[in-house]
Amino acid sequence: MADNRIITALDVHSLDDMKKLVESLGDSVSFYKVGMELFYSAGPDAVRYLKDQGKHVFLDLKVHDIPNTVGQSIRALTRLGADLMTLHGTGGRAMMEAAAEAVRNEAEKLGIERPRLLAVTVLTSIDEACWEEIGGKYEIAETVLRLAKLAKEAGIDGTVSSPYEAKAIREMNGSDFLIVTPGIRPSFAVANDQKRFTMPRQALQDGASHLVIGRPITKADEPRDAVRKILEEIQGV
Ligand code: C5P
Repeated sequence: MADNRIITALDVHSLDDMKKLVESLGDSVSFYKVGMELFYSAGPDAVRYLKDQGKHVFLDLKVHDIPNTVGQSIRALTRLGADLMTLHGTGGRAMMEAAAEAVRNEAEKLGIERPRLLAVTVLTSIDEACWEEIGGKYEIAETVLRLAKLAKEAGIDGTVSSPYEAKAIREMNGSDFLIVTPGIRPSFAVANDQKRFTMPRQALQDGASHLVIGRPITKADEPRDAVRKILEEIQGV
């Protein structure tokens, strides 16, 4: 049986490639991530296909603009029926509030369950040197927590975070807050280009509510078998 805490990243750029992967995984995966690569290539059909298959969808488009534009964009995306969507916390309080309000209103109008919104805090690709270059005032770790707190105050449901940040955010924002973490490597998988990664069980124990896992599943010789092993690793957590 699938586990809704495991989100498989569909990092492919055509509907055909996506469908092949989803078919091969069958009922072993119930939650998929559609990111910019797939969405900009295949468009809303990628989300519609997954919803038609009865899957949950994490639409990771990291929206970032002025509040009015973000509100209208999030309103449009809500109509696609994704379960989780992302925006940048650095867009500020008013931008996040506009998004939260747009989701609530549009979902109510459509009579569908409200998609949940996640804020990206500081991208994990940004190191201290880059942070200084772009004028970051506080240390990265402190900024992550400030943005996570601000997101919650603005009505956002959770954050996308490194597993290393999960514990502090969980302690600060409470048990209902969603914490979705990429950078996960099961014990059987290679690191690929992930430098700092955490095993699935550890990430959940540290407070993650969902894990985004891509290549360890999608590039495995037997993707279904990879999922099965991951589920074994997190059994009981
Ligand atoms: O293949 P892998 O498991 O590394 O894929 C992880 C997914 O999470 C990819 O879609 C990647 O873009 C995303 N991601 C990440 N690290 C971050 C943020 C997002 O790996 N810090």
